[in-house]
Amino acid sequence: MRPVSSIIEEVRSEARLIRTFRLDRDLDPKPGQYLMLWIRGVDEIPMSFSGPDSITVQSVGQATEALFKMGAGSSVGLRGPLGNGFTLKGERILLIGGGVGSAPLAFLGEKARSKGLTVTSLLGFRSKEDIIFQERFEALGQVLITTDDGSYGIAGRASAGLKELSLFDFDQIYICGPEMMMWDVISRTREHGAKTQACINRYFKCAAGICGSCCLDPDGTRVCLEGPVITADRLLESEFGRYRRGPTGEKGPCRG
Ligand SMILES: Cc1cc2nc3c(=O)[nH]c(=O)nc-3n(C[C@H](O)[C@H](O)[C@H](O)COP(=O)(O)OP(=O)(O)OC[C@H]3O[C@@H](n4cnc5c(N)ncnc54)[C@H](O)[C@@H]3O)c2cc1C
Ligand code: FES
Repeated sequence: MRPVSSIIEEVRSEARLIRTFRLDRDLDPKPGQYLMLWIRGVDEIPMSFSGPDSITVQSVGQATEALFKMGAGSSVGLRGPLGNGFTLKGERILLIGGGVGSAPLAFLGEKARSKGLTVTSLLGFRSKEDIIFQERFEALGQVLITTDDGSYGIAGRASAGLKELSLFDFDQIYICGPEMMMWDVISRTREHGAKTQACINRYFKCAAGICGSCCLDPDGTRVCLEGPVITADRLLESEFGRYRRGPTGEKGPCRG
């Protein structure tokens, strides 16, 4: 698939290092799907949709820093929507988000509410200044927020909020965030693995199922094509939470 050109229509600051970029194209994505964003002359990187025409980006390195220098009217390239997104099931759902990983869950929660589902959200952030989309989530239903430094809500990691909830009350659980945060939650809630859909990251190059860069050990699941949403029971049998491969294919630690 060749990239299409798109103009950034609006840039909104969400938190100290997080911005939302609204594009001039509604690509009709499913929540959990992603696009490959081509920042010309720099890199092409994967980004989840935070709305039908938007992405929400944390500045972490060369490509995202270059994007943060772009304003409304700038042109980028897009390939997408790509991959398998979340599947809405049941009547009562729980969203568990960590940091910028909360963004695709806000989009999912809005889809779920429009279909009449009851939505509860558990969101973890480093600190009060890092909270994003609080109003979007509060418009959906009950929201629990944790902060690592205790500056807002429940003190501790997202898993600290689990004891306020009975996971048996939910038909389906959706999770997205840093790998170690997701691992912490899914390894504590193994009995709910089959009904937990996790949106995960691996190093994407082709985003077309060809190069093997994003494959998960041991079964070789191509995260770019068969994911990025994968059920937790499958992740618990994989490399997830133990190691991940970088741009050269070498195994490295799971950070975050
Ligand atoms: C399916 C998917 C959805 C994502 N959605 C979002 C999102 O909604 N918002 C957001 O802020 N970030 C998202 N990311 C992560 C985002 O792609 C990286 O933060 C970005 O590529 C960093 O690029 P950089 O040049 O700024 O940083 P670099 O300094 O190049 O890299 C910093 C880190 O970003 C990751 N990264 C870099 N290049 C890639 C790549 N090609 N594929 C995967 N990871 C990479 C690596 O872990 C790397 O260590 C997503 C990643 C994936 C795989
Ligand atoms: S990124 Fe090439 S197979 Fe997934």
